Amino acid sequence: MNEKSFESYLKDIEKYLKNSSIEVEKASMIEKLEEIYHYYLGRKGNITHILRSLSSIPEDKRPIIGKIANEASEQIGKIINEKRDYLKEKRIEEILEEKIDVTLPGRQLKLGKLHLLTKTINEITNIFIGMGYIVVEGPEVELDYYNFEALNIPPDHPARTLQDTLFITDRMPLRTHTSPVQVRYMEKHKLPIYLISPGRVYRRDNIDSTHSSMFTQIEGLAVDKDISMAHLKATLEVFAEKVFGEGTKIRLLPGYFPYTEPSAEVLVQCQECMGKGCSVCKRSGWIEILGSGMVHPHILENIGIDSEEFTGFAFGMGVERIAMLKYKINDMRLFFENDLRFLRQF
Ligand code: DAH
Repeated sequence: MNEKSFESYLKDIEKYLKNSSIEVEKASMIEKLEEIYHYYLGRKGNITHILRSLSSIPEDKRPIIGKIANEASEQIGKIINEKRDYLKEKRIEEILEEKIDVTLPGRQLKLGKLHLLTKTINEITNIFIGMGYIVVEGPEVELDYYNFEALNIPPDHPARTLQDTLFITDRMPLRTHTSPVQVRYMEKHKLPIYLISPGRVYRRDNIDSTHSSMFTQIEGLAVDKDISMAHLKATLEVFAEKVFGEGTKIRLLPGYFPYTEPSAEVLVQCQECMGKGCSVCKRSGWIEILGSGMVHPHILENIGIDSEEFTGFAFGMGVERIAMLKYKINDMRLFFENDLRFLRQF
């Protein structure tokens, strides 16, 4: 080693001493101190490096550099340790100063709950699951074919006019009912079929206390050998008693739907006056809750089902209507306004 390198070793050590002391002074976290230690005194640290390369220094200079480097190492180690102790102490003091009032009551966690519509859907679907039905779902953006055509609704049928239907494109409406699920499912699955299908439907309606442009339906379909209107009636009687209470009566009136023949409108005893007649049921004692009927043979044949061998019934109900009757709610908008004062009650 020449004179110059000897000098530069000394200069380096001096520089490390100075810099490390500034860095330690500035450090406010123990993690930072560890970094500094690593940089100067770690296995690959600067001072360590000098001590390791002593053998390459001429023998007469070795003790001098060695001594100075050792002293520097001790010095840096010492200031790091002191600062570490200081920071630890300070942290403990800070913790002790934090004032925790253990007598304060804890913050209450607010538990959410199911929306009344979800609850009603679950309640109704569970009744049908209990009778052996399965639950299936269909798309809300539907093809014209499934929403209308496959259900015997010809192009000039009033239900197709812009007045009732919201369209995404010419041939793609938002479904106006859950009935298209019947066709979609029958196309792909073997008979017998017992299904219900809950979901949102859309219509171009002006919004008021009994109308909404989005609402919820539950569709039902049973196709099997020897299914008759008696099965439909018995099934809906069980349903009505389970939803509204034992002894609840229903009534079937002739109706019209293009996809059922014969069709029936199903009424339930008014839950307000229990059939006596009041303003809710317009003095009739009965309230319509769903549309139903025997699946039209055209629809079965269209899908390739032999309508001589298989018959079926179908029904579709409005979930809001049923919840309104059951829980005595007088405005449909309450379901969609998300006012917690309303929702919390159920
Ligand atoms: N889709 C009808 C509606 O939205 C309800 C309906 C009536 C469904 C008769 C049916 C049915 O499955 O057979 O008003």
